[in-house]
Amino acid sequence: MAKPVYVLNGPNLNMLGVREPSIYGGKSLREIGEDCVAAGTALGFAVDFRQTNHEGVLVDWLHEAGRAQAAGTAVGAVLNAGAYTHTSVALHDAIKGAGVTVIELHISNVHAREAFRHHSFIAPAARAVMAGFGVQGYPLAIDGLVAVAAG
Ligand code: DQA
Repeated sequence: MAKPVYVLNGPNLNMLGVREPSIYGGKSLREIGEDCVAAGTALGFAVDFRQTNHEGVLVDWLHEAGRAQAAGTAVGAVLNAGAYTHTSVALHDAIKGAGVTVIELHISNVHAREAFRHHSFIAPAARAVMAGFGVQGYPLAIDGLVAVAAG
C-alpha cells in the first residue's frame, strides 16, 4: 500500500469556496482534497486529507503523523493551520515534539496582508514555508514534501 502524505487543514478552511473568494478562490475544500489525492497518486503516495476547527485535534494529528513518520509508514505533513499559525505555541511544540516533517502552507500571501498574519509560530518548526500560490499551493506542497523526504 502507498505511504500516506498527511494534508492537515485548520480552522475555517472548511468554508473554502464560500469564504472570501477574492482571497482564497472559488474551490471547495473537497475539490482541493481531490486535487491533493491526484497529486499524491501521480507521485506514488496516498494522501490523508483532513480538516478541523479545533487546535487540540491538530495537535493530535501532528503527533499521529510524527509516529507514522518515525515508523516509516508516512512521509510527513503539509499543514495549513489557518489562523492558528499566528497564535499557536501548541502547534509549534507539537511539530517539534513529534519530529514530523512539516511544510507550512498558506493559500494567500500572508506577508502581503495584515501585520498580524506576518508572524508564524509554525515556521521555525517547519521544514519549509509556502504562501501565495492560491489553492495550487496544495499539490505544489505535496511535491515539495515528497522531494525533501527523499533527501
Ligand atoms: C491562511 C492564512 C491565515 O492568515 C488565515 O487565518 C487562514 C488561511 C491561508 O491559507 O492563506 O485561515 O492560512
